[in-house]
This record gives sequence, C-alpha cells and structure tokens, in this order.
Amino acid sequence: MEEFVPEKHVQYVISVEKRKDDFESLVMEHLRLNGAYWGLTTLDLMHKIGAIDPDAVVSWVMTCQHQDCGGFSGNIGHDPHLLYTLSAVQILALLDRIDVLDVEKVSNYVAGLQNEDGSFSGDIWGEIDTRFSYCAICCLSILRRLEKIDVEKAVNYIVSCKNYDGGFGAMPGGESHAGQIFCCVGALAITGSLDHIDRDLLGWWLCERQCKDGGLNGRPEKLADVCYSWWVLSSLIMIDRVHWIDKDKLAKFILNCQDKENGGISDRPDNAVDVFHTYFGVAGLSLMEYPDLKSIDPAYALPVDVVNRIFFRK
Ligand code: FPP
Ligand code: ZN
Repeated sequence: MEEFVPEKHVQYVISVEKRKDDFESLVMEHLRLNGAYWGLTTLDLMHKIGAIDPDAVVSWVMTCQHQDCGGFSGNIGHDPHLLYTLSAVQILALLDRIDVLDVEKVSNYVAGLQNEDGSFSGDIWGEIDTRFSYCAICCLSILRRLEKIDVEKAVNYIVSCKNYDGGFGAMPGGESHAGQIFCCVGALAITGSLDHIDRDLLGWWLCERQCKDGGLNGRPEKLADVCYSWWVLSSLIMIDRVHWIDKDKLAKFILNCQDKENGGISDRPDNAVDVFHTYFGVAGLSLMEYPDLKSIDPAYALPVDVVNRIFFRK
C-alpha cells in the first residue's frame, strides 16, 4: 500500500499560501478565496490549522467583501459571486469567526439571487446553475438564515434538474454529472429533502463511476480524477450507498496521486499537483475514515467538529 505523507501536504499547502508570484498563483488569482478554503480545510483535516495566522486570514477575507451588496469576490478588486461568498463563509466558520460578519447583509445578498422559479443566479449577471443553488443553501444554512429564501421552490427547482438515470445536471435537461449531483444532493440533504431521491438508482449511477484503476470519474467514458473522490463519495454517503464502492482501491488511487517528495496531490498519477486536488484527495480519504484525519461532513464540506460547533453550540 502506498504511504500517506500528511506532513508533506501541510508543507505544500503552506508554501502555496505564501507564494504569490508563481504560475499556479497567477492562474488562480481570481479564485483565491476558493483556494484559501481548499488549503485551510486541508490543513484542518490534518490537525494543522494552527500553522496559519487566523487574524491575517480573517482580515484578508473581509477585504474581499463588497460593501455595497454584501457579497464576496474571489480576490480584492474582482466581482462578487455566490461561489466566493460561500468560500468566505466556510473559512470564517472554520476559524470560528462568523462574528466578524454582518450576517443580515450577507444573507440578504445570497437570498436576493433567488429567481421566481426557485433557482439561483450566481451573481447579478444572471447565469443559473444548480451549483449556485447549493452555494446559496449551504451558505444560508451556516448563517442560520434559510428562512430568507423560498426553500420549497428551491427544492422543487433542484428536483426539476433530476434525470431518468437518477442523477442531476446543471439545469433542467442537463446531463448528469457527479459535480452537479454533489450540489443537488447536498442542497437536498441540508434542507431535509432527500426523499426526492431514488437512492438505489442514483447509487447505481454513482458507483458505476469507479474505474479499473480504482479512481472515480465524473461521467461515463471519462478518466478517473481525484476530485471525483469527493463529489461521488460525499453523494454516496448522503444517500447511504457508500458500501457499493471499493474503498481500498479508491484509497490506493488517491495515494498514488501524491507528490511524495514535495507534497500535494494531482488529479491522476504523475500529473502536476494543485491545491484543489490536494483538498479533494485528503477530503476523500477523510470520508473513507482514513487514520489520523478529522472527519468531514459530506453536505457542508467542512470538518464535522466545525459543523457541530455551528449548530449545537449553546
Ligand atoms: C466539477 O467541475 C465540479 C462541479 C461541477 C461541482 C462544483 C461545486 C461547487 C462549485 C460548489 C461548492 C463546492 C464545495 C466542495 C463547497 P469541473 O469543471 O472540474 O468538471 P469537469 O471534470 O467535467 O471538467
Ligand atoms: Zn479534477
């Protein structure tokens, strides 16, 4: 069995946070808030959130908020979007600093993006996608403001994106895709609406994603990719069908994608590593209860202790 090298991954994530001028940082610049969420959650899952300065992270996150609308952009000087607003809220939840937020303002921004048919636009430009339904619902749930949207309409819209194969797409009639399935199942789980899912049918489609090399792909005929360890496995757990996957083979595939010298995990063996796949590799191992990792919540994509703190703190 390949060995897991968490201390290398900690070094890798910290080095990416520090480097601001290399190629990966340049292409990722507009996504920095997403990148920070991936990196910080990876550190926390490996019990190393203490390696960063929380005050510095919180101040930087808050500079990405737009004072006019309350939404967050991916970096200073970019446009606000639900994708980054969720990352900001997740980071603050992870660091137990939701108190720095004007919760009414942020939740009004998110709720304001719901459309008449229950769907969500990602920003004022109006693109609609079930990813944005998830971002909105997850974000409002963490902020404990789900009552600001029409949850029934939001759920009905997601259900209208369900296909005959049991999966979900980005919009009604859109092809089933494991990433979108995570978003739809996650949103249904958070709103207590999983009864809309045919668990055996969807479970079958999802477990068919396991390839000969043990890795999971996102759609039929595609190559396995470490990030689908998260999108597929989290969905299978939420519908209680994770035992239909060969976990040992999947763990081996993820471990084979590690850069054991410099840290980090790639999408598939021998490719270049990045923070996105490092996060989803470690999160995938955590979902499979790999030793010495914190467990992660499959719907909120945050460590379970963080989710418990949000909902059960007196
Ligand atoms: C695949 O993308 C993934 C998706 C479509 C789901 C994205 C989900 C979110 C942005 C919601 C927030 C997520 C979390 C974990 C909090 P891709 O473009 O890589 O797909 P491809 O493999 O088909 O290219
Ligand atoms: Zn990927």
